[in-house]
Amino acid sequence: MHFSLNVYGLQRPNLNIRGELALKLLQDKVLSEGIVLSDQVLKVDSFLNHQMDPVLMKEVGKEFARLFAGEGITKVLTIESSGIAPAIMAALELEVPMIFARKQKSLTLREDIYVEKVYSFTKRQENDVTVSKKFLFPEDNVLIIDDFLAHGEAALGLARIVEQAGAKVAGIGIVIEKSFQSGAQRIQEAGYRVESLVRVSSLEGGKVSFAAEAVH
Ligand code: G4P
Repeated sequence: MHFSLNVYGLQRPNLNIRGELALKLLQDKVLSEGIVLSDQVLKVDSFLNHQMDPVLMKEVGKEFARLFAGEGITKVLTIESSGIAPAIMAALELEVPMIFARKQKSLTLREDIYVEKVYSFTKRQENDVTVSKKFLFPEDNVLIIDDFLAHGEAALGLARIVEQAGAKVAGIGIVIEKSFQSGAQRIQEAGYRVESLVRVSSLEGGKVSFAAEAVH
């Protein structure tokens, strides 16, 4: 482990400083640019869901790589479209391929595919989520990344695809978790490790509140 001197001249691990930085950048961005649409939905289309902030995404990718360092990750898996930016940055940092699951069957995806049904509570629609069998193998150790965690449907659907391939789910990394919904609990109950960079505990009264953070 690397150590550096902080302003107080005390030794502390670099890893922790990096974790705090990514967290702070994200929380600041959520507070300054997030729009609370209702008690259930937070709009972040200026940096994550429509326009994307590459500098922030780079820090997010580094943080996921830090959290899952030493796990022997061989692939990063996400779902189109907003998961792609944080996932590619994590994959770049881990130096492994990134796969994005498709919600609509691709015209050129003619080979064998893994398919899972994923229901979106937010959008009230069901999608057939697909990944080509060409890209996931039993020896893979997969880090699943997504932009939002609400009820956990997308993350658990991706985990089922990894299991279909006979591969291992190393863990699930989330950029923004809505802790007042059931996703994190459902993922933990399913036996997977979940790491959320920002945990929103409430959107009540048009105000974003964060859950107490444990920086690893
Ligand atoms: P779940 O997978 O955790 O169960 O979430 P859910 O089905 O409820 O969410 C479906 C979609 O809505 C996902 O995007 C998810 O990222 C997004 N979402 C959920 N809650 C919020 C929220 O409070 N704010 C924002 N901005 N998005 C939210 P998607 O359909 O996959 O869309 P995209 O990735 O193409 O953008």
